[in-house]
Amino acid sequence: MHIGVPAETRANEARVAATPETVKKLVSQGHRVTVQRGAGVPASYIDDAFTAAGAELVDANTAFAAELVLKVHSPNEAELPLLKPGTVLAGMLDPFNAENNARLAAAGITAFALEAAPRTTRAQSLDVLSSQANIAGYKAVLVASNIYQRFMPMLMTAAGTVKAARVLVLGAGVAGLQAIATAKRLGAVIEASDVRPAVKEQIESLGAKFLDVPYETDEEREAAVGVGGYARPMPPSWLARQSVLVAERAKQADIVIATALIPGRPAPTLIAAETVQQMKPGSVIVDLAAGRGPEDEGRRGGNCPLTEVDQVVTKHGVHLVGYTNLASMVAADASALYARNLLDFIKLIVTKEGALNIDMADDIVAATLLCRDGQVTRGIKGD
Ligand code: NAI
Repeated sequence: MHIGVPAETRANEARVAATPETVKKLVSQGHRVTVQRGAGVPASYIDDAFTAAGAELVDANTAFAAELVLKVHSPNEAELPLLKPGTVLAGMLDPFNAENNARLAAAGITAFALEAAPRTTRAQSLDVLSSQANIAGYKAVLVASNIYQRFMPMLMTAAGTVKAARVLVLGAGVAGLQAIATAKRLGAVIEASDVRPAVKEQIESLGAKFLDVPYETDEEREAAVGVGGYARPMPPSWLARQSVLVAERAKQADIVIATALIPGRPAPTLIAAETVQQMKPGSVIVDLAAGRGPEDEGRRGGNCPLTEVDQVVTKHGVHLVGYTNLASMVAADASALYARNLLDFIKLIVTKEGALNIDMADDIVAATLLCRDGQVTRGIKGD
C-alpha cells in the first residue's frame, strides 16, 4: 500500500506523523512510504534519516495522493482537495467538531480520528490522547518553572533558606498526573484536585496531596465516576464546594497547572477571575484547557476565564500561560510516540497482505471511523 506523510502546515505545529523508526517498520511490511520533503525537520527528523529508513521524499501532492495518508491534524482548506475520494486518512482529526467532520465526509475520504479510540487496554498502544497529554503535562511544569521567578525545590544555602514552590494541579488525568510527577522531581510541594474518586490513590502515590471534596448525594457520586474513564460534568452543588476549596488553595499556590477537561463539552471553570486577583504576585497558571472553556463574549478561556489562547499574559500580577500545543514543544518525542500510535492503528485497518480492511466489528475501528462514502459515521463512546 502507498502510505503518504505530508508535512504539517498549522501554526505552532512541529510534530510529524511518521518517524524514521515507524517508516522502517512500514517499509519492512511491504508498504511504499512517501514523506514530504522537510516534513520531519521541525521535529529534528531530517530527510536523510527518512530516506535511510526506506522512504521516498516527495512533494505535498504526492504524499496526499497516497492510499493511506498519515497526518497530525485535519487537512486545511488547501490540503483537503489534494486527497482523492476513497483515500484513507488517519490523524487527530478533532472528532467533536461537527463542521469539520462534515467537510471531511464531503471530500469523499475515509477518515479515522484517533482521539475517538476507546480507553481500553487493547487501545492503549494507539491512545493518542494519552501519549500527547503525558508530554503536555510534563512540558507545562517546565514552562511554569521557566516563568516562575523562584526556585522549585527547597534549598538551604549559606545565604539563607529558600522555600519549595507550592504547585496546585487541577485535573489529575494523564496530563495532570505527569505534571505532578514532573513537579515532584523538581522538588515542589504539590496538591491536586479531580472529580473522579479513582485518582486519589494515584495522586498520593506520586507524593502529592489529594484535595478531597466529599460527595454529598448519589447524583454527585455517579457523575464523579464518569463514563469510560472520562469525567462527566459535575452537579453545581459539588462544583460550588470544589471552587471554594480550589480558590483557597490557589491563593497559597505559586504555580497552578490546570488540566481539567470533559470530552465534547466546555472545560470547567476552576479558577475564577476573582481568585486570580487574590493570588500571590509572580505566581504562574499554565492552563492546558486554553480555548476550551465556556464561551464568554465571543472568546473562550480555559479552566481560568482570564487565560488567552496561545499567549502568555500577566493579569493582577499573575502570569497566565495559554499555550494550546505544549506537546509540539517536545516535538521529537511527541512525534515518536504519536507515530507509534499510528503504526499500531494501521495494523487494525490494513491486512498483512497490504489490503485495506475496515472491520466494523472491531470496537476501535468502529469508534474511530469518522466518515466514509460521503457520510459522517462518528461513533464516539458515550455519545
Ligand atoms: P481528560 O483530559 O479528559 O481530563 C483531564 C482530567 O480532568 C480528568 O482526570 C478529569 O476527571 C478531570 N476533571 C474534569 N472536570 C474536573 C473538575 N471540575 N475538577 C477537577 N478535575 C476535573 O482526561 P484524560 O487524562 O484523557 O483521561 C482521564 C482518565 O481516563 C485517566 O486518568 C485514566 O484513568 C483513564 N484512561 C484510561 C486508559 C485506559 O484504560 N486505556 C487510557 C487513558 C486514560
